[in-house]
Amino acid sequence: MILRLPYLLTKLRPQRPPPTSLAEVVGALPDDDRLALFKALSNDDCEELLYDWQFWARPGQLAPSGNWLCWLVLAGRGFGKTRMGAEWVKEKACLVAGLGPVLCAGHKKTPVRIALVSHTFADGRDVMIEGDSGILAQSPPDARPKWEPSRRKLTWPNGSTATLYSSEEPDQLRGPQHHFAWVDELAKWRAAYCKPSGVGDIRANAPRNEIYLRVFV
Ligand SMILES: Nc1ncnc2c1ncn2[C@@H]1O[C@H](COP(=O)(O)OP(=O)(O)OP(=O)(O)O)[C@@H](O)[C@H]1O
Ligand SMILES: [Mg+2]
Repeated sequence: MILRLPYLLTKLRPQRPPPTSLAEVVGALPDDDRLALFKALSNDDCEELLYDWQFWARPGQLAPSGNWLCWLVLAGRGFGKTRMGAEWVKEKACLVAGLGPVLCAGHKKTPVRIALVSHTFADGRDVMIEGDSGILAQSPPDARPKWEPSRRKLTWPNGSTATLYSSEEPDQLRGPQHHFAWVDELAKWRAAYCKPSGVGDIRANAPRNEIYLRVFV
């Protein structure tokens, strides 16, 4: 379906690349065009669309291309930083056998381990995992991870896992190995040296304090 929607949009507006999100492009269409577009989609397509980040994301909310190690999102209140993190984690967790095409070189068909690092455990639980923009709310029912608060662990149906860490207990990050990490609200951390070990890609959200920025940039 995700392949069909841009195709239909191209037919409606040839030569015009989406200036914002695909959702905003669709929203700005004349009523008749918008109706025609959705009539071409099945009910399943429409339901899938609800969770399709490629459809909803503004261009600045998608991960940069290329072989980057750390992606820093420095933006104002309500920009959609937490949502970006949750969507990025979903993508990394699901793009393995059974839930998507491939993950990335070296991790094909292998469940991945992801570190979720927040200021406190409560912040991570309430915002990154259970919040409106968090992983559970933004996951479709058939690819929603199981959340075990006592183990601070999410487990996807394909075996990928994400473990929640707190900047207040940085030593918990010593030992475990992860393929990826998502850090939310880095500037709230007191322990700036709390960097996940064995991490391939790191993304961090909304630092308020330049000192913390320098740790990552
Ligand atoms: N591209 C988008 N399309 C639709 N809704 C979006 C999009 N990006 C973010 N949102 C929604 O906007 C709201 C705010 O997003 P989010 O909580 O991620 O912002 P934030 O930058 O983390 O905010 P804060 O500064 O409070 O931490 C959420 O409901 C989120 O789901
Ligand atoms: Mg946020």
